Amino acid sequence: MDVIAIAIDGPAGAGKSTISKLTAQRLNLIYVDTGAMFRAVAYYFILNNIDYEKEENLNKYIDFINIELRYFGSMQRICLNGKDVTMDLRNEEISNATPSVAKNQKIRKKLLDIQRDIASKNNVVMDGRDIGTCVLPDAKLKIFLVASAEERANRRFRQLIRRGKVVDYFEILDNIKKRDEQDMTREIAPLKAAEDAMTVESTHMTVEQVVKFIVTLAKAKFELN
Ligand code: DC
Repeated sequence: MDVIAIAIDGPAGAGKSTISKLTAQRLNLIYVDTGAMFRAVAYYFILNNIDYEKEENLNKYIDFINIELRYFGSMQRICLNGKDVTMDLRNEEISNATPSVAKNQKIRKKLLDIQRDIASKNNVVMDGRDIGTCVLPDAKLKIFLVASAEERANRRFRQLIRRGKVVDYFEILDNIKKRDEQDMTREIAPLKAAEDAMTVESTHMTVEQVVKFIVTLAKAKFELN
């Protein structure tokens, strides 16, 4: 039987990682968070104080960066040059730096090879921006998950408030719109729905509703129980 691949793409804050993780758990597949791979590369530049806005730096230092994914059940751990950095990647500094790194062709190519290699050996739910269009164009199930920028900013706002942070809703909304613009307009592998992707508009759906929907589709498509 062919390996199973489910591609889930969409803009920042649409809930891709939560939904992909739960979908993977319920179907007993591996969850591959490709955003974390780009974040880990950005983290290398931040940690080493290297200017990631300079293309020549990106082209040079990517050769010194080793990104490795390890799995415990369906849970992904990400290692940067041998060190587990999984818990260090979700902060505003890295979120704001990553789009610059993700524009670079050499970096994308290096990560693409790792992503395809994992998907050739495992049954995966892979989330990102270009999974359905570039990384796994033959995936049999492709989801393009969207929600309005306001709703995505709202979700992020509530999440940060729950963590006790003092945050400004309009600043979050601005950041989300800026990241959408950067992801959609870059030359290589921009964010867009594959022609054969199913768009899921999740503004008024709960996480559970979206997961159930995708799991049902996947069971039918891949003839799973
Ligand atoms: O999904 P995320 O917020 O963790 O993604 C972080 C950044 O990486 C974001 O700027 C988009 C970029 N990215 C990408 O260009 N291609 C992917 N397959 C995944 C993420």
